[in-house]
Amino acid sequence: MFQNKHIVVGISGGIAAFKAAGLVSQLRQHGADVHCIMTEHAAKLVTPITFGELSGNDVIVDMFANISKWDVEHISLAQMADLFVIAPATANIIGKVANGIADDMLSTTIMATKAKVLFVPAMNTNMYENPIVQGNIEKLKTLGYFFMEPEIGHLACNTVGKGRFPELDMIMEEMEYLLSGNQLLQGKKVLVSAGGTKENIDPVRYIGNRSSGKMGYAVARAAAMEGANVTLVSCNRELPVPVGVHAIYVKNACDMEKVMNEFYEDCDVAIMAAAVSDYRPVTEAMKKIKKEDCETLTINLELNPDILMGLGKKKTHQFLVGFAAETNDVLNYGKRKVEKKNLDMLVANDVAMDGAGFNVSTNIASIIYKDLRVEQYPKMSKNDLGKIIVGKIAENLSKR
Ligand code: CTP
Repeated sequence: MFQNKHIVVGISGGIAAFKAAGLVSQLRQHGADVHCIMTEHAAKLVTPITFGELSGNDVIVDMFANISKWDVEHISLAQMADLFVIAPATANIIGKVANGIADDMLSTTIMATKAKVLFVPAMNTNMYENPIVQGNIEKLKTLGYFFMEPEIGHLACNTVGKGRFPELDMIMEEMEYLLSGNQLLQGKKVLVSAGGTKENIDPVRYIGNRSSGKMGYAVARAAAMEGANVTLVSCNRELPVPVGVHAIYVKNACDMEKVMNEFYEDCDVAIMAAAVSDYRPVTEAMKKIKKEDCETLTINLELNPDILMGLGKKKTHQFLVGFAAETNDVLNYGKRKVEKKNLDMLVANDVAMDGAGFNVSTNIASIIYKDLRVEQYPKMSKNDLGKIIVGKIAENLSKR
């Protein structure tokens, strides 16, 4: 994603300036052409030599240092940038840009660029929450600038609160999102389910399965990167919600069915990546079941609704995608599910294979289409498979 992309990293004068060094290093390792612009205050906290070494390019600090070149530099960087990231972004640089002040190399170049600009604010909590700063952020957001939320944690001022520089992975993901995509699903509404449902036995126990939700999240992420409006119906609160995705949390199959039905009518694509429990306890004990009360325990189970089958029955215009987790005869069972559940596409995987299935970050899948044509894929990361699935959905939608 970052290969040969021109990324301009603006470093303003916050203590987190040293963390931007890690970001620059990662971007370069991912193949990006990185150019750094530092404010004079940032250059007092971390030496420009650090950023020069890590980026492999000259670092620009003082716009008047090289008077014969400065205007060329700020315009050429502004024009060449595929993406601009200000990390860390102080209240000062946010305030300057929001109010049209361009009095140093960084603020001037931001003013001159037409590339997407991502601010990564990091500062003391009270500063971040100051209504003037928040007002500036809101103003910039409405003008099309992008912002990351700072994290909550220990701050340089020895307090705990909101204002921490986010984890590098999160910044990289946000940047990837902004850089990505050919907008293959621009304007499409995509509904994705993810994770394993949990059916309560009593207030402390449930029947669940090994699904981590990673595959559904990867598909949701890939769809958002292609410009879709994505609603993710998830059973897993632990995974970070991908950028641009709206998450709704559910616990059990009945709740998931309700939410899926609510959004189905209006969606263009529905993808059931969730591992839905086929059965639920007939009754849920209201109090914890105590072992003194029963020497042996029998839990009676009843069938859950087959959500995907229900969606297949009432399908009108939607492109409907199912998943199948099998341990043998993958393609035969998969084909049967395509027909039985009235699907346009099914992603089948053999969960017994090494590197496929639950709780790992890779998968080995076959895609089966409505006409029972099969495409087989080698082992790859769930994120890569998510991109392939979304690409195939877009390809089939465009043929309709
Ligand atoms: N599914 C569903 N509701 C259920 C069970 C499954 O919507 N109660 C969906 C899953 O989200 C998946 C597809 O149906 O997209 C296939 O799920 P899978 O567990 O592989 O198969 P089942 O249909 O449950 O059949 P079996 O467990 O007998 O293989």
